[in-house]
Amino acid sequence: MIKKGDEITADISDLNSEGKGVSRLPDGFVIFSENTVPGDKALLKIKRKKSNYAEAALVKIESPSQDRVNPRCIHFGICGGCKMQNLDYGRQIRYKSDVVKDAMERIGGFKNIFIPDAVKSDNIYYYRNKMEFSFSDDEWKESVTEVKDEDNFALGLHVPKFHSKIVDLKECHLQSEITSEILNFTRAFFKERKVTAYSSFKQSGFLRFLIFRKTSATNELLVNLITYDYNEPLIKEYTKAVTHKFPQITDLINSTSAKLSRVAAGEKEYVLFGKGYVTEIIRSRTGREYKFLISPQSFFQTNTLQAEKLFDIVIETGDFRESDKALDLYCGTGAITLLLSGKAGFVKGVELSEESISDAIKNAKFNNVKNAEFICSDIKKYLENPENHEGFNKLVLDPPRSGLHPEVSEKISETKFEKIVYVSCNPHTQARDLQIICSKGNYKISRLQPVDMFPHTYHVENVVLLDCIE
Ligand SMILES: C[S@@+](CC[C@H](N)C(=O)[O-])C[C@H]1O[C@@H](n2cnc3c(N)ncnc32)[C@H](O)[C@@H]1O
Repeated sequence: MIKKGDEITADISDLNSEGKGVSRLPDGFVIFSENTVPGDKALLKIKRKKSNYAEAALVKIESPSQDRVNPRCIHFGICGGCKMQNLDYGRQIRYKSDVVKDAMERIGGFKNIFIPDAVKSDNIYYYRNKMEFSFSDDEWKESVTEVKDEDNFALGLHVPKFHSKIVDLKECHLQSEITSEILNFTRAFFKERKVTAYSSFKQSGFLRFLIFRKTSATNELLVNLITYDYNEPLIKEYTKAVTHKFPQITDLINSTSAKLSRVAAGEKEYVLFGKGYVTEIIRSRTGREYKFLISPQSFFQTNTLQAEKLFDIVIETGDFRESDKALDLYCGTGAITLLLSGKAGFVKGVELSEESISDAIKNAKFNNVKNAEFICSDIKKYLENPENHEGFNKLVLDPPRSGLHPEVSEKISETKFEKIVYVSCNPHTQARDLQIICSKGNYKISRLQPVDMFPHTYHVENVVLLDCIE
C-alpha cells in the first residue's frame, strides 16, 4: 500500500486536464505528478495520498519520453505561467483535443462525437498581447531554509497552489523581450527607492500589479502600474525614467486600487503618458480589417493572431448570411459582434462590463459599422424578457471560464435559434452547459473545433455548433 513519502518508479501514460502526468498502477491506483510527460519513466515521491489517487513530486526522470523537449524558460518548473514547455507542441495539440473529448463524454454525456486536433498557434512563444505581473512581499524561494532578502520583494507570476508566493521573474517568453526588460527595470527602480509591495494580509504597502498590453498589428505598448494609492512625485519620476529608457512605450497609466482582493484592476486611472488605451487590428477572412480600441480594463482576446483564426472559425461555423439577425452574448469589446456585422444583416452584442460596452460602441463607430448595436446587461437578466431575443435566428455565446449561469442554459434550451455557436475557454463548464441546452431536444451538436490560444498551458478554447432540431 502506497503512503506519503514513498518513492516509486512509474510510467507516465497520459496528462490530466490540469496538465499533470498520469500513472496507472496495476491495481488501478492513479498517481498525478507535476513536470512529467506521457512516455516518461520517472521516480516519483508521494506527497499526498487519497483513497484512489495520490499526488507526487518528480524526483528524477529515469527514461525520458520521445515527446519531451527542453523548456526555454529558466523559471520552468516553478512558475505557473506555462507549465507544458517541456512537451512537444504537436503532442500538446493532441492533448488539448483529448481534454475536450473527455469533458464532452464524461461531463456532457455526448458519446461518439468527432473532435479534430486543436488548431495550432503559429507563434508558440511571445504570443500574448496582455500580461499581468504581481508585486509581492512574499517571494518564492528554492528552499524554505534559504535566507530571505531583507526587503523580500518580488515582481513576477504566481507559484501554482501558493497564491501569495511570487516567482521573481528575470525572463518571461509569453509576451516579448521588451516586456521582461521593463519588468526588470521596474523592479530595480522601486527596490532602489525601498518602495514596498502591497500585502493584503498586512493591509499595507504600495505596489500591486504591473500590466502590459502589447499589440501585434500596431506595435503599441501600454504599461499600467497598479498601486494602492497615488504618489504623484514618485510616479512622475518613474514615468520619466521608464519612458526615457524604453521609447517603445506608447502609453503609461497609474491605476490605483485600495481593494483588499487581489484583482489586477484599478478603481481610478491616471494617464501619465500617451492616450491611455491601445489599438489592435483584427483581419477577417473576408479581407476586411477591424480596428479595436482597448481600454486597460476591457476584455480582449489575448493571442491576437490566433484570435483571427478563432473568429474565422466562429463565422464559418455559424454560416452567417445577410438575411441573419444574430445575438452575440458576452460580447466583451465587440470583437465577434463587429466581425459578424460584415456577414449578417444585423448583430446585437450584450455584455456586463460598462467599460467593455463603451469600447464596443466606440469600436463600431471607429469601423463605420452601422448594423450592430450594444447593450450593457447581465445575460441572465437580459434573457428573462423573451422580447430581447425575439426575431434573432442565430446566437453566439462566449462566456467567461465559469460558463453559463444554469438559468441561462435552461432559458436557451427552450429557444429555437437556427444555429448556436458556443465559444468557450473551459470545455468542462461548456460540456455541462451543452448538456442542459440539449436536454429539451431542441438542439444537437453538429460540430466541435478546439483552438489552441495558449501554447504551453493546459488551457484550450473550443467552438461548438448547435443546430436546431425541427
Ligand atoms: C470570454 S469574454 C468574451 C469576449 C468577446 N466575445 C471577445 O472575443 O472579445 C467573456 C465576457 O463575458 C463578460 N461577462 C461575464 N459575466 C457576465 C454576465 N453575467 N453577463 C454579461 N457578460 C458577462 C465579461 O465581462 C467578458 O467580457
